[in-house]
Amino acid sequence: MEIIIAKNAGYCFGVKEAIQRTFHAVDLHRDKRIHTYGPLIHNPQVVQKLESMGVQSIDDIQDGKDSIVIIRSHGVPLEVYEKAKENNVEIIDATCPFVRKVQKIVYEYHQKGYSIVIIGDPTHPEVIGINGWCDNKAYILNHVFQVDSLPNFDKLCIVAQTTITSELWNAILKELNHKAKVVEPFNTICVATRERQSSCANVAQQVDAMIVIGGYHSSNTQKLLQISKKYCKYTYHVETAEDLPMDIIEKMNKIGVTAGASTPDWIIKEVIEKMSSMDQNNNERN
Ligand code: F3S
Repeated sequence: MEIIIAKNAGYCFGVKEAIQRTFHAVDLHRDKRIHTYGPLIHNPQVVQKLESMGVQSIDDIQDGKDSIVIIRSHGVPLEVYEKAKENNVEIIDATCPFVRKVQKIVYEYHQKGYSIVIIGDPTHPEVIGINGWCDNKAYILNHVFQVDSLPNFDKLCIVAQTTITSELWNAILKELNHKAKVVEPFNTICVATRERQSSCANVAQQVDAMIVIGGYHSSNTQKLLQISKKYCKYTYHVETAEDLPMDIIEKMNKIGVTAGASTPDWIIKEVIEKMSSMDQNNNERN
């Protein structure tokens, strides 16, 4: 069996930075309570590890009163910083610079009187955070058909959740161009997302089956899954090596592997090792 690993699989720059800063904070502030604002990344194994080190996730900044709170790479609405001050919360801000850029754009254009559209998942923390930088006034779209229900605008600023597909961005932008006299589009899909998606598509076209590793609730992993399924019928989403469909894999000759931006290297390694050792056992038997 041949295993092809996609380039740019696993932790992205923003996630790596957030994790490093969290471990550093635990080391440095042994006498203080440390929280993350929401689970640090969409990977249950990493979240469990942090909990075992005493780092709990909170959903309301007031629950972090008098403690250190780490803002994850997804970022938060502007009002969270204000509430943190009121509650004597020391913030360690690990908002990814790519997300920060989107927050700044919507803040600036909202101040200039533009209506804002965010293309992305309205329930995702990154999108909720971005919306909080334009007074929660953004129109949030996840499907092309939703454009029909929008009013016409004078001036429209359009941004993307950093992990959407270019396909979705292009399709919605095309329709939105007819909705306003002035349209300012900012394609804010991040570099790491683009790279992961294109190398996933590349590998999926060459293999019999594709394994996409990542948290079941990870948005960028879901997108890799979608892309892979377009090219490879036998695409499987696993969180850990335990979830591998071994009965199917052993019938395949070429397996592709990719991983979402919040998947740790050790999980990717375990998945590859499990498939390789099964292959070795099968070869020895035959
Ligand atoms: Fe940042 Fe992109 Fe990762 S926005 S957190 S580098 S997926």
